[in-house]
Amino acid sequence: MTHPPLANIESAAHVTGRSIYVDDIPVMEGTLWVKVLDARIAHGRITRLDVREAEQMEGVVKIFTHHDIPGENQVGGIIPDEPLLATEEVHFQGQPIALVAAETEEQAEAALQKIVLEIEPLPVITDPREAFRQGKLLSGSRTFSKGNTAAAFSGCAHVFEGKVESGGQEHLYLETQGAYAVPTEHDSVRIYSSTQGPTAVQRTVARVLGVGMNRVEVDVARLGGGFGGKEDQASTWGAFAALVAYVLKRPAKCIPHRMEDMRMTGKRNPYSSDFKIGLDADLNIIAYEATFFQNGGAAADLSPAILERTLFHAANSYAIPHVHVTAHSCKTNLPPNTAFRGFGGPQGKFVIEAAIDCSAKNLGVAAAVIQRKNLLADGYEFHYGQIAAGSEAQNCWTKLEQKRPFKAVLAEIEAFNATHPRLKKGAAWMPICFGISFTNTMMNHARALVHVYSDGSVGVSTGAVEMGQGVNMKMMQVAAACFGISLDRIKLETTNTTRVANTSPSAASATADLNGKALADACLQIRSRLEILVRSQLGVSKTTRIILRDERIFIDEQATDMTWPQLIQQAFFQRTNLSAKGHYATPQIHFDKITGKGHPFAYHVYGTALTICTVDCLRGNYTVDVVDVVHDFGNSINPGIDLGQCEGGIVQGIGWMTMEEVAYNAEGRLLSNALSTYKIPDIYSVPAVLDIEPVDTEGSELSIFKSKAVGEPPLMYGIGAFFALRNAVLAFNPQSDIAYSAPMTPEKVLMGLY
Ligand code: MTE
Ligand code: HPA
Ligand code: MOS
Repeated sequence: MTHPPLANIESAAHVTGRSIYVDDIPVMEGTLWVKVLDARIAHGRITRLDVREAEQMEGVVKIFTHHDIPGENQVGGIIPDEPLLATEEVHFQGQPIALVAAETEEQAEAALQKIVLEIEPLPVITDPREAFRQGKLLSGSRTFSKGNTAAAFSGCAHVFEGKVESGGQEHLYLETQGAYAVPTEHDSVRIYSSTQGPTAVQRTVARVLGVGMNRVEVDVARLGGGFGGKEDQASTWGAFAALVAYVLKRPAKCIPHRMEDMRMTGKRNPYSSDFKIGLDADLNIIAYEATFFQNGGAAADLSPAILERTLFHAANSYAIPHVHVTAHSCKTNLPPNTAFRGFGGPQGKFVIEAAIDCSAKNLGVAAAVIQRKNLLADGYEFHYGQIAAGSEAQNCWTKLEQKRPFKAVLAEIEAFNATHPRLKKGAAWMPICFGISFTNTMMNHARALVHVYSDGSVGVSTGAVEMGQGVNMKMMQVAAACFGISLDRIKLETTNTTRVANTSPSAASATADLNGKALADACLQIRSRLEILVRSQLGVSKTTRIILRDERIFIDEQATDMTWPQLIQQAFFQRTNLSAKGHYATPQIHFDKITGKGHPFAYHVYGTALTICTVDCLRGNYTVDVVDVVHDFGNSINPGIDLGQCEGGIVQGIGWMTMEEVAYNAEGRLLSNALSTYKIPDIYSVPAVLDIEPVDTEGSELSIFKSKAVGEPPLMYGIGAFFALRNAVLAFNPQSDIAYSAPMTPEKVLMGLY
């Protein structure tokens, strides 16, 4: 990594409480509070909804049902299958039915209790395989295929089959969903929203209000975390606030409390999957088949896109000649599940890792032997047609192997286990390969707006949303580098749909790449105008190089007297245009959804992690002791931020695989509905050793300043924790039939031990 380490300039304001989130916006005079009446049974027909008494309550201004929506009662992003407010039926517990708008939050709460609601129950499905059996699907099933698995299996020396389960995951962003809407002139509305997708909120609100998108302004300062949960689902909350503000012509604030947020919003899609894997006598994986049953919940939301990424990453980082993978998006009576860091990729990778582990156990070898042997190299054709280029799969593994030799690690663990009857250690290796770009090619574009003010200070707007991942800092670095000026001169503006339009959500780990390249385009337009000026002012020939560096103009490496502020003042006097709009659309990518072939990703991110766990075999509890990683950052633009993304992602992945258990009962009621019943990793769950090293690499031209995307890929290292724990259990009880069922909670470990 050659870029200098730079602290994130926003951190100080975050930790001292000065950063503004939606609920910190000073409340305007006349603001109404909006509370949501949601269904308490998971499937049923609404037989009575009477709001008359509630509407008479003190402070209540109006109660909204679907009859009060001026436009379309629809919030479905990919498929129009999700009403904003329920009409005749409800399909999940937590489904919004009515809104109360009152002078205070307490008054709105009180009125909620007075709404008369009767629902006649209908049968509830929570299991995706059951939904599939009944033909309940959210979208068309998909298959990606390469070679001929059926024929290949008959030639394999070893064939294994199995079943794999992975659970949901609550986003638990520190800041819950929420929006604050203000009516503005010309029949318009401005919404301060906690969203990853300002344009998605704008589009949804325009549809619900029945107005043009030009009448809906969405403004985002930052998020207290999104993790995918605010890519699509923030739109609902934006629409609640906007509907009230637009109809009543008063500002309206709608922010759910934690338990409401947990109850009403979707989570990571749980999956139930089948695999079949075939190996030759030398342990080469010859064929792989998998069928994924995705638990989509009651509406499509982003599940069809998530399903697709599961198929893209179904073979992880392995070179396999014959692959056939199918996925079904199953409609159940749960809240619509949605994007979560990795976007279906983790669910797909978990299954092939289980298949390899199953093969290894049956063949009496370490899984790492099979993993290492099958890592893909440049020139490999993925099952979706893209040819691997710049693969770091083997490099990362080799570098980790040099640091922690595989045989030594296993010997050490064996020695420990031989001398500790009560404690058992287990290890697992976890390689990753994650494609960067939205899998929907048309989403891979971005814009930026740059103003250089006459005093030399710079204002930057992009479509990027800051959610803790540090994209604002990266954008400032891009602008500073393009102009050769200090970071102090740059201000990053809020993300606002009137300044930067038609944005893709900040997601797919591609935010810095897409917006950074658009920003560089804008800055370079201004810089070339400045260069023309310098040439005429200082009489510099066309062939001589002009460099902006250290706030000064250099001519062929010779410093001139002209500083940045002087240059800008001159440019202003000469009536130079000091503003520019930049645009970027990822080149080279394409994908044919019918054939399932193409070149969908700008590039891939690789890495390998070793995880070592210790299980207390009396109690079933455990610690993750070591996560040792070699990761492909490319040439990191900000190593501090990127390391933080790695650490956070790994711990979040460990949480998904070990302790985070989203539990619904058979009636579709969320049991893990608060932080007392849903356990996420805390500082004590962080591995004692969490060591992340970069692999030496060139980076990719399609990443920003050759700094590879880092937001999602590291989460998948967390999958190693599942297998490390499973190995520890097997060290204690080799006969254990412990299933490939995540999360590996202490309860499951205990059951597996005995
Ligand atoms: N990091 C923090 N602190 N907060 C978040 O909400 N979201 C993750 C990841 N890292 C998230 C985060 C997800 S799901 C994605 S897609 C990326 O950040 C989005 O930002 P990027 O595209 O800039 O990497
Ligand atoms: N990743 C994340 N979010 C998305 C994607 C994707 O590939 N496609 C649509 N939304
Ligand atoms: Mo991230 S799941 O793409 O918001």
